[in-house]
Amino acid sequence: MILDAKLMTRLVAVAAVAAASALLVKGMLPGINLGAQETSQEQMFSEAEKYERFMGRWSQRLAPAFVKFAGVSDGERLLDVGSGTGSLALAIAAQTRRREVVGIDPSRAFVDFASKRTSDPRIKFQVGDAQKLAFPNASFNRCLALLVMNFIPDARQAMTEMRRVTKPGGWVAASVWDYNEGMTMLRLFWNAAVALDPAVARLDERDMPFCRRGQLSALWKESGFKDVEETELVIDLEFSSFEDYWAPFLESQGPAGVFVGSLTKDQREKLKNQLRNDVLAGRPDGPFTLKARAWAVRGRVPTDGGK
Ligand SMILES: C[S@@+](CC[C@H](N)C(=O)[O-])C[C@H]1O[C@@H](n2cnc3c(N)ncnc32)[C@H](O)[C@@H]1O
Repeated sequence: MILDAKLMTRLVAVAAVAAASALLVKGMLPGINLGAQETSQEQMFSEAEKYERFMGRWSQRLAPAFVKFAGVSDGERLLDVGSGTGSLALAIAAQTRRREVVGIDPSRAFVDFASKRTSDPRIKFQVGDAQKLAFPNASFNRCLALLVMNFIPDARQAMTEMRRVTKPGGWVAASVWDYNEGMTMLRLFWNAAVALDPAVARLDERDMPFCRRGQLSALWKESGFKDVEETELVIDLEFSSFEDYWAPFLESQGPAGVFVGSLTKDQREKLKNQLRNDVLAGRPDGPFTLKARAWAVRGRVPTDGGK
């Protein structure tokens, strides 16, 4: 699976949108500009049904555990940052009686899809950017971001904004998959792709920002939050067959899907065969379960303005 240098450069931008921004800051990826990142974000997060089949079904599974960890309670006004197809807002609604949720996401397609999933007048989705939130200071009790922080080009600016719009004493919480190890669905995928072509290591999501133990809590502390706590959330991903695992990768969702979309038919077949061997590990095809770990963090906005 040999990729030419030009294609590789383009895929690096696609495969790690937020990671690329971090690397750009460090000057490690010259030639990849923000335009390429924006195209990548649009490419990855524009088709809601496909996203649901690839990742939405698992974020739905993760959302209730995250809501519990974030400490959501009745009577709150909450901001769902990077609300995507709406799974977190719906999980909040399912676990509370009185609440108001506003979800913001840059993807118009996702906002429209999420809006159609509920008729609850106290849940609203709108187009928005975490780096420039269109809300007054201290307008939410709690601010939550599920599987989003690693995709935001300037996560620190998003932290400043989430802190600004959350009331003093309120909580800001986030969760990011452990792309390095514990998100087995993606780890198996990238290990197989790199085994076939070591050059693909540059695209591997294992270095996604904030995907390792301690990285989210470090960001929270650096951003001036109090009572910062980090934990792991582990869920089961149940697949009915190898095809159920593989088919969503063909839909160009997320960095892995965009990578598969760049391969020739022959390269795709090789990757599929390698993955079948790795995933089934000698067992006959049929239902199987993979573990998925995400890191979650929560922290309180200081009541004294952060002094
Ligand atoms: C992996 S999806 C997660 C969506 C949803 N929270 C979920 O758990 O299913 C990442 C989301 O981050 C959104 N996103 C990317 N950049 C963003 C930004 N600057 N501000 C807010 N959301 C952003 C994407 O549009 C996408 O919906």
